[in-house]
Amino acid sequence: MSTSSQHQNPAFSDGTPNTLAVLGFGKLASAIVRGCISTGFLKASDVVVWARSDARMAQAHALGLKLVDMKTCAHSGNALLLSIKPQFFSELAPQLSVPANTNVISVMAGWTSEQIATRLNVTHVIRAMPNVAAEVQAAVTALSIPKECAAPAREFAQKLFSSVGRVELLHESHLNAATAISSSGIAYLCLFIEALERAALQLGLPNDVAKNLSIDVLQGVAKSASTVAFDAATLRASVTSPNGTTAAALAVLNAGEFSQLITRAAQAAKDRAAELGQANQ
Ligand SMILES: NC(=O)c1ccc[n+]([C@@H]2O[C@H](COP(=O)([O-])OP(=O)(O)OC[C@H]3O[C@@H](n4cnc5c(N)ncnc54)[C@H](OP(=O)(O)O)[C@@H]3O)[C@@H](O)[C@H]2O)c1
Repeated sequence: MSTSSQHQNPAFSDGTPNTLAVLGFGKLASAIVRGCISTGFLKASDVVVWARSDARMAQAHALGLKLVDMKTCAHSGNALLLSIKPQFFSELAPQLSVPANTNVISVMAGWTSEQIATRLNVTHVIRAMPNVAAEVQAAVTALSIPKECAAPAREFAQKLFSSVGRVELLHESHLNAATAISSSGIAYLCLFIEALERAALQLGLPNDVAKNLSIDVLQGVAKSASTVAFDAATLRASVTSPNGTTAAALAVLNAGEFSQLITRAAQAAKDRAAELGQANQ
């Protein structure tokens, strides 16, 4: 597999950042790039990629993306998407020479925009926290754009993440909380489905029925939630007759402080995100 050392001028020729360089091409970056190509926001030829492993480079090659080495990648796009594992950024940053006006967009958990800007010596860094549903273009991305960021760069970031779902613009001070809800939240819901499946088996349902019913119920709620008038408390109340079956189940969940447990779990995720940020000082 060949890599090209050719690079484009990173300066915004007409004020519009329209080439994307991607450092790290794992699950998330690959989902974002596929989303952008499928919506027509970017062409494959607009995207330059570096990943550490040949396997990831081969995936990028199969999508028709340009493959480059790490150093070339850092100055090959008007926008640079940082999508490597956060623990390796310290090691990589000193090797990268990123033009100061590059529109750096990071999805790395735990690195603040200021920390990244300092390490890369760039003027500003946009931070985004999508979730794994980007793979099916159903993500929600908490997006934090610094106020000094120019309009074209701002618009580029919004379109990039809109290609894989909905974007929620937030101040960076809310990003750790959003991570705890909508990124880590995927795992809480999966744990709930797993528990529901286990309960179904315990109640004597066959394996496939236990799995299907548990997923179907989530899909039903998700579809209801997509309606304008959806309100979780109202829907819950509407299926809870006094002294009925649902009321019996909810009494058990409330006795176990289910809601408080979720709050504590989300707080733990938010605290951990803050700790990771502090470790990068
Ligand atoms: N997945 C999500 O839902 C999600 C949500 C929000 C934020 N994020 C963030 O998105 C980033 C990527 O996550 P992912 O889920 O796509 O992970 P992933 O599939 O494991 O991909 C991680 C990428 O980082 C690269 N990498 C790992 N170790 C490296 C090293 N020592 N030096 C250079 N590159 C290295 C991997 O390279 P090779 O595999 O090529 O070796 C791969 O390209 C992470 O920073 C994560 O915090 C992910």
